[in-house]
Amino acid sequence: MSFSGPSIQQKPQLSSLQILWKGIVISGFVLFLFYNVLYHHPNNDHDLFVPFIAQKLPASSPNNVTSSPTNLSHIMFVLVGCIRTWKYRRPYIEAWWRENKTRGNIWLDVAPTQELLPWPSSSPPFRVNEDIKKLKIYPKLVNPVEVRIYRSVLETFRLEDNKDVRWFVMADDDSLFFLDNLVEVLGKYDHTKYYYIGTNSECIKSNYDFSFDMGFGGAGYALSYALVEALASTIDECIERYPHLSLSDYLSSSCSADLGVDLIIEKGIHQIDLRGDISGLLSSHPKSPLITLHHFDAIAPIFPSMNRTEAVNHLMKPAKLDQSRLLQQTICYLRQSNWTFSISWGYSAHIYESIFPRSILRRPLETFRPWKEDRPPLFMFNTRRPSNDPCKAPHVFSLEGVLDRDEGSSSHEHIITTYSRSLQRNLPACSSNGNHSADPIVKIQVFSSSTGRKEAGRIECCDVDYVAGKDIANVKLRACMKSEVLA
Ligand SMILES: *[C@@H]1O[C@H](CO)[C@@H](O)[C@H](O)[C@H]1NC(C)=O
Ligand SMILES: *[C@@H]1O[C@H](CO)[C@@H](O)[C@H](O)[C@H]1NC(C)=O
Ligand SMILES: *[C@@H]1O[C@H](CO)[C@@H](O)[C@H](O)[C@H]1NC(C)=O
Ligand SMILES: *[C@@H]1O[C@H](CO)[C@@H](O)[C@H](O)[C@H]1NC(C)=O
Ligand SMILES: *[C@@H]1O[C@H](CO)[C@@H](O)[C@H](O)[C@H]1NC(C)=O
Ligand SMILES: *[C@@H]1O[C@H](CO)[C@@H](O)[C@H](O)[C@H]1NC(C)=O
Repeated sequence: MSFSGPSIQQKPQLSSLQILWKGIVISGFVLFLFYNVLYHHPNNDHDLFVPFIAQKLPASSPNNVTSSPTNLSHIMFVLVGCIRTWKYRRPYIEAWWRENKTRGNIWLDVAPTQELLPWPSSSPPFRVNEDIKKLKIYPKLVNPVEVRIYRSVLETFRLEDNKDVRWFVMADDDSLFFLDNLVEVLGKYDHTKYYYIGTNSECIKSNYDFSFDMGFGGAGYALSYALVEALASTIDECIERYPHLSLSDYLSSSCSADLGVDLIIEKGIHQIDLRGDISGLLSSHPKSPLITLHHFDAIAPIFPSMNRTEAVNHLMKPAKLDQSRLLQQTICYLRQSNWTFSISWGYSAHIYESIFPRSILRRPLETFRPWKEDRPPLFMFNTRRPSNDPCKAPHVFSLEGVLDRDEGSSSHEHIITTYSRSLQRNLPACSSNGNHSADPIVKIQVFSSSTGRKEAGRIECCDVDYVAGKDIANVKLRACMKSEVLA
């Protein structure tokens, strides 16, 4: 390891070399400002926090700095598991892993036992972590397992399979990725700068106990190549600074913080520190692309009457056709009945017998419980309390199937998702809004007519086509009109 990361320490005197260096840095900075003025793009407001020396480094990495668009081959996965949990969690990884396309490994505590061999080619290849007992800090480590987990990123870097790697993505063996969205979101950031992208917990208490600045590892977080290169030469020193930290993610956040790098939160990344039925959350997803979900063994199956594996695989069906719309909430109205339709594409459809504005419906229904019972406020976001008021309680439908009418052709102009009633609502109609009951409806069909991915961060609108008394309602997604108000 000849490369040592950019130092931010001030030296007491200036040698002529340092004066020259200062000159280079200042002119670099002027160029950098000029570049930013010329090519300002909306997501570079974090750039100023990056030590600018790092940005001016020539390509000491195998990466080409003038880069092509980010794609899956630029991402190196650092998945961490252990032999004990592998058997149960393998289906979660295999639901998203793309053999021969995704790069990376699953890091294990010990070599797989005979019953787990031969290792399936549909799973990421396994690696066994180095024995950390060789570290001189070992006797002082409060939680050696967590240090093993964090060092997987270092061990991955040292495999020297880094050609064209732009991002190292850390995650657990029970994290579920939506790869097309991951690629799109990481593509917004410049991997030659220092970036640490993840999310914190849904529960205020978990963030308070560890850190509001920590990317939770089960949700998954991404470290740019430049950052991992800098960490590689400093991780073991960092571990010596923090032998008392009991969580690998906290260690990771601390080591990055000491290099001047703070967490950037992406709202499509989910730790799911929740219990029970998370359908309320998945039915009011933020308009950011869905990137990960986690903790399937701690929550109820996300689709009714399926087991956990089946439910995860069911969600992957729409994911295979269009990840840009997956869980994206689209709201429209049937004025002649005073109904609101709220679609979470590829997951659920709700009908309310009232007109609710988007400002209300974007708040998740609190169908779930926090990770640990506690006093409110519990969550990092606002929720709606479930209600038995017929004017407030939705009729709930969940994904039944996906049909690609253009299957075989390259366009996906006509993807139809269908949603069927999960349970009877067992409430009378909302009488104050005209007494229009939605009970006859057993199925909702949603037509996506767009030819491409939905633009991230922008909602779509829809129209309802329904003849009173019929058992099927049709909803057509479309671009929102100028100044269209959802209320
Ligand atoms: C980067 O790639 C482009 C073409 O893809 C090439 O012209 C250029 O020389 C490369 N730059 C470096 C620093 O390798
Ligand atoms: C990904 O981008 C690289 C250029 O960095 C290109 O060579 C490669 O073909 C692309 N891969 C895919 C699957 O598009
Ligand atoms: C992956 O690559 C191996 C070796 O090239 C090949 O035998 C296997 O069929 C490939 N698998 C898939 C799913 O493409
Ligand atoms: C879930 O159901 C499938 C069959 O649909 C079955 O093969 C699998 O063993 C079940 N998984 C669990 C954990 O019960
Ligand atoms: C819709 O509800 C309002 C009250 O909220 C009511 O005055 C109106 O008549 C209803 N419209 C229809 C078509 O039922
Ligand atoms: C609402 O409709 C149901 C049947 O559709 C009827 O029995 C009930 O009396 C009506 N309620 C009101 C307040 O009109």
